[in-house]
Amino acid sequence: MSEISVLGIFVADISFSGPKIPAVGETILGNKYNIGPGGKGCNQAVAIARLGGKVNFISKIGTDSYGKLALNTLLKNKINTENVIQDPNLQTGVAGILVDKNSGKNAINVIVGAPSTFKISEIDDQINIIKKSKIFLTQLELPKEVTLYCLKTAKENGCLTILNPAPASEIPNEFYSYIDYFTPNETEAEFYTGIKITNEKDAQQAADKLINLGIKKIIITLGEKGLFYSDGNEELYLKASSVKAIDTTGAGDAFNGGFAFGLSKEKPIKECLEIANKVAGLSTTKLGAGDSMPFFKDI
Ligand code: RIB
Repeated sequence: MSEISVLGIFVADISFSGPKIPAVGETILGNKYNIGPGGKGCNQAVAIARLGGKVNFISKIGTDSYGKLALNTLLKNKINTENVIQDPNLQTGVAGILVDKNSGKNAINVIVGAPSTFKISEIDDQINIIKKSKIFLTQLELPKEVTLYCLKTAKENGCLTILNPAPASEIPNEFYSYIDYFTPNETEAEFYTGIKITNEKDAQQAADKLINLGIKKIIITLGEKGLFYSDGNEELYLKASSVKAIDTTGAGDAFNGGFAFGLSKEKPIKECLEIANKVAGLSTTKLGAGDSMPFFKDI
């Protein structure tokens, strides 16, 4: 039995690193490019597996060359692939990523590909693995009805659920009651609450607003400023680990993966957040997303 199930997408990330992120209509000469595994769900699964977690990935890919990259990535990282549907009629997704090599910041355009056609009827074949998991982790890159159905099933079967609400987009109120941990970054938190987050006090207000919607626990990641956690009673503010960031792509995924791993080992909340923080920081020191996830020995 897998301790953690991750529902999400795999895409091939095509990253271009250069002196800046080009403006509209501008051409620049870059330094490096990389084609590697990406997609928030797959990145999170890789982060968990590299820490030593038992993880099952639920997704859909094509049988094209990027589909092969997906399978190789999952196998290499010892992730269960039984619940990855392969459809020869669909294309595996890609993401175009522009990275500023000085700050590590990025701009991303994701073409979801095969998993954009996911239906609840297909997921029904994979639902047993979710029911048997201790932790269920997902994001917002798949059709919403599928995500909601899986979150609901996970919660009704006693899993701890984590929704990483990225990329930020409208979700029906029904989502909130099935979420144990909601993990937006500061811009996503602003999207869901209307509160612009510039300091700890703003983060606290945003977290209160989200708790009033029915979510149990909130973790707002604040980039280089660290993170804020609240369950309505206990509040924690942790600084980010200090690293020289080369590429921040996938740092949020590293954080979510590290956090899910900590929870699966039943560590206290502060320790889960510290693990997540370290994993996220280290993931920014290499170009790429999935391939930049650290191993347990690194943290
Ligand atoms: O969170 C980063 C990820 O978002 C990238 O790997 C990209 O593929 C997008 O899904």
